[in-house]
Amino acid sequence: MPKLSRRQVLAGTAAIGLLPRVGNAALPTPFVLRAAPATQGILGGNRTDVWAFNGIAPGPVLRTRQGQPFAASFANNLAHSSTVHWHGIRLVNAMDGVGGMTQAPVPAGGAFDYAFTPPDAGTYWYHPHEMSYEQVPRGLFGALIVEEPNPPQVDQDLVLVINDWRLSADGVMAGSFGSRHDQAHAGRLGNVITVNGEINPVIPVKRFERVRLRLINCSTARILELRLDGTQPKLIAYDGQPLAPTSGGYGAALLLGPGNRADLILDLTGERGASQALVDMRGGEPRVLARLVLDSAEQARDGALAAPIQLAANPVPMPGIDKATSHELLMTGGAADERDMSALMGTGPIWNFNGKPGMMHHGGAMVSDHPPLFRATRAETIALTLENRTAWPHAMHLHGHHFRLVRRADGKPPQPWWWDTYLMEPGETATIAFVADNPGRWMIHCHMLDHQAAGMATWFEVA
Ligand code: C2O
Ligand code: CU
Repeated sequence: MPKLSRRQVLAGTAAIGLLPRVGNAALPTPFVLRAAPATQGILGGNRTDVWAFNGIAPGPVLRTRQGQPFAASFANNLAHSSTVHWHGIRLVNAMDGVGGMTQAPVPAGGAFDYAFTPPDAGTYWYHPHEMSYEQVPRGLFGALIVEEPNPPQVDQDLVLVINDWRLSADGVMAGSFGSRHDQAHAGRLGNVITVNGEINPVIPVKRFERVRLRLINCSTARILELRLDGTQPKLIAYDGQPLAPTSGGYGAALLLGPGNRADLILDLTGERGASQALVDMRGGEPRVLARLVLDSAEQARDGALAAPIQLAANPVPMPGIDKATSHELLMTGGAADERDMSALMGTGPIWNFNGKPGMMHHGGAMVSDHPPLFRATRAETIALTLENRTAWPHAMHLHGHHFRLVRRADGKPPQPWWWDTYLMEPGETATIAFVADNPGRWMIHCHMLDHQAAGMATWFEVA
């Protein structure tokens, strides 16, 4: 068992019982991240068979520090091949965890040592990149926190891992992973949403505390539009990258597609007993996902902290759009609407990129038989226009790089922050730009994992 510091144990038990934390200081060498079947009480006392990292879903919160070597030995105790992908980390290509592209898949019973030095501080996550449409919704995902060298002063640093599960009333996980229906429609949406593995958890806070909330959408297909009742917390980072002081807020709700993260700062000013709900506004009925409750008699200090938090920028090169090389990614295919079942026939890819079936990414070899979307020279600036001509949203994820949004066809000003995953609404066209400065073969794919498996995947190479 990794050792936990007193502070971590307290935070883990007081705030969110299910979430084990592994701190940087206490990380044993080698730290073993083990994927294996497990059971978990997601719905009350009913046990659900899950696949989990180190016995629990979400897996342990891994904490490391910017610019310091991180190492984890992956042990695959599943009956299938697997890998670990470190989502959003701009790491060396060989550690990216894409089976058949950056490494050989780790066979059942096998192991692989991951080691890299994260260049950026921020909120990231990890998950398998083999059969991810099944391995992720069964429970294989967890938070990876890269701390700043001098983390800003907060009273609580809370990681909230959000995902959904498809369960029967007695807690049995629905099969049908990678069904043609999910592939051609919205993907595998669950019917039970959890935060750190619990339904609607209560998170105790104190009056006048300053809390850093790290929200991670680990859902297989669910899009979240989040609001915190009564306040608008300050957005300080998106997809791990700090926002500039002039970036403004996020509008009426914070949009997190599958794979997206956000860091918020919240100063609690309510009276004792007050609660603030984290609410998902996407699609119809608002749903409460968790509650922050001021249940303590003590207050943290005499008044809320006034000084704002400003995170130092990470060393991501800003793309200069004027000298960019342009590429296009036109997305077509899928069902025409909710009732269209025609795509359920057949076995081939359901989605097309630029008029051709995309890569069927189930893991295993696929690079050699699928041409890259483009090749870039090192440090070339790329402007990629994404055009979603389908009836479904898609969360487009780029490996190894962060990008800016430079143009939106709807005329709205592009949000002035970095992304590694950009949610495209149906009919949306947007241009993203980045400096291709990380050599290797990198995937571009939809993070609705059933779409990824059914053709919404391709790759690019940086020389
Ligand atoms: Cu989070 Cu290619 O994945
Ligand atoms: Cu998609």
